[in-house]
Amino acid sequence: MTGRIDVLHGVNLDMLGRRDPEHYGSLTLTELEVKVKRFADDLGLELAFFQTNHEGQFCEWLHRAGETSDGLILNPGAWTHYSWAIRDALEVAGVPAVEVHLSAVDEREEWRRLSVIRDLCFGSVQGKGVDGYREALEMLNERVGK
Ligand code: DQA
Repeated sequence: MTGRIDVLHGVNLDMLGRRDPEHYGSLTLTELEVKVKRFADDLGLELAFFQTNHEGQFCEWLHRAGETSDGLILNPGAWTHYSWAIRDALEVAGVPAVEVHLSAVDEREEWRRLSVIRDLCFGSVQGKGVDGYREALEMLNERVGK
């Protein structure tokens, strides 16, 4: 495929490496991105990475995604569970998206079980650490790579 996949990381994902390794592993965000880039290279996909702790910024990237990207991998962090603004912005984006969580959100605290973006995503991967991103890339490659 010739298009671009954007990987959007939300709040506190820049703290990987300092967060609970039991849930999030020990890689820093930079180390995770290196691995995800390798997965993308294997599949011949072009990737761009973004991370912010500001919800409005995340929304603005989604507004732009309709023009700039062919697919999205979203890990909005805690925003996943309550940001209706991000949900609305994803609807505006209208780009095929896969939700990824490093940890098994459905098996953790009750409040993590709600994802306000899940039904707008055609795929969702959780609890597989960095390998979850490979799975998401494979799903997007299948979906938009033809
Ligand atoms: C997370 C899960 C969220 O519940 C949490 O708030 C995060 C990271 C994950 O990747 O497992 O910040 O999205």
